[in-house]
Amino acid sequence: MNYELTDFSSDISGFYKLSLEERQRQLVKLLNLSQEEFELMRTLGYFSPAQIDRLIENVVGSYQLPLGIAFNFKINSKDYVIPMVIEEPSVVAAASKIAKIARENGGFVSEEVKSIMISQIQLTNVKDFDIAKENIAKNKQKILDIANEQDPLLNQLGGGAKDLEVREIETRKGKMLILHLLVDVRDAMGANIVNTMAESVTPYIEGICNAKIYLRIVSNLTTHRIAKSRAVFDKDLLGGEEVVEGILNAYEFAVADPYRATTHNKGIMNGITALTLATGNDTRAIEAGAHAYASLGGQYKPLTKFDLDSEGNLIGEIEIPLAFGIIGGITRSHPMARLALKILNVESSGELAQVAAALGLAQNVGALRALASEGIQKGHMALHSRNIAKLAGASDEIIEEVAKRMIKDKKIRVDYAKEIIELISKSNNL
Ligand code: MEV
Repeated sequence: MNYELTDFSSDISGFYKLSLEERQRQLVKLLNLSQEEFELMRTLGYFSPAQIDRLIENVVGSYQLPLGIAFNFKINSKDYVIPMVIEEPSVVAAASKIAKIARENGGFVSEEVKSIMISQIQLTNVKDFDIAKENIAKNKQKILDIANEQDPLLNQLGGGAKDLEVREIETRKGKMLILHLLVDVRDAMGANIVNTMAESVTPYIEGICNAKIYLRIVSNLTTHRIAKSRAVFDKDLLGGEEVVEGILNAYEFAVADPYRATTHNKGIMNGITALTLATGNDTRAIEAGAHAYASLGGQYKPLTKFDLDSEGNLIGEIEIPLAFGIIGGITRSHPMARLALKILNVESSGELAQVAAALGLAQNVGALRALASEGIQKGHMALHSRNIAKLAGASDEIIEEVAKRMIKDKKIRVDYAKEIIELISKSNNL
């Protein structure tokens, strides 16, 4: 830190009222940032200042990550190139590699994904649960009609509020009646649509149920928007019977142990989250839904399943809730998200979910294959050692050489990189 903690207060108001440039200058002053750091904040890339300033509050810059492409995917007989935004090396390469193996047996088969979202309406202080439930059932069409008045365009597209679910739950503040409004949101992620609809039906429902409604909000556990994909992976291309045996053992480990299942699913989300981010979708919503679904049965479980076919090839399956949009949010307004969607060439939110499920499965097989054979570090090491070389002060001309020597000597450490740099510069000066 280049400022004294004693002088520093984070209690700052009115920051949002400043222009983008004023905010950058104020931050420079507050934190005593350098001219170089100021310039870094001013590098907005493909955003115009006005564009980026509209996205969130208190904007001071833009933050870039690599956009990579995974190749070789054949899903439901269609070929895809998949855009992925991720900072972790090896992920894109692993997805491409496994997709190539899956192609040998026809690629991935992904099921149709319905675009039904749930909006939850929380009824408290319900006087009589039976009467409330009866009145909801009797007036179901009226409730759906009120909700549908909010979005005539969605209705024209065949979407809209379609159904209701009623649940009673026990809480520490007494029993509550939870009403689910089921809305077909078509190609949108749908959170905004369903939140608006849920708010619109509140006064009417409070009236017919004689209850007090508090929360009206989308559920990110989108159990009516489930993506399923399946593929067969040739045992020899995976590395032979022993590797396949290792993958099956890894899978059973994850089934039995939530500590392992978490990392297993993290590997799946390496792919899915990268695609989510690339297409301008909400990574937190997708992640929350996935992990909640993994624990719906009471214990946190892997989101994939594995088995063998009669010839000993690996059959992989994935089942995961995926609420994507290809319209709305920043999917069309973020220049790179728009390009990512063009690269991906999907026609619906459901098709995007079909691709994402296949990608998640490929990513998982890639990780398990590596873990069951050479281990995960080998793939990571080249980039890791380049980063260490850079950190040790290697110039661009010698980074590769320093990195290679560290790998060869199995000592990937900053102190060792410094030693190598010194040796190289000495020998260059001879
Ligand atoms: C690393 O990002 C992902 C893995 O840990 C996944 C796994 O262990 O299955 C390799």
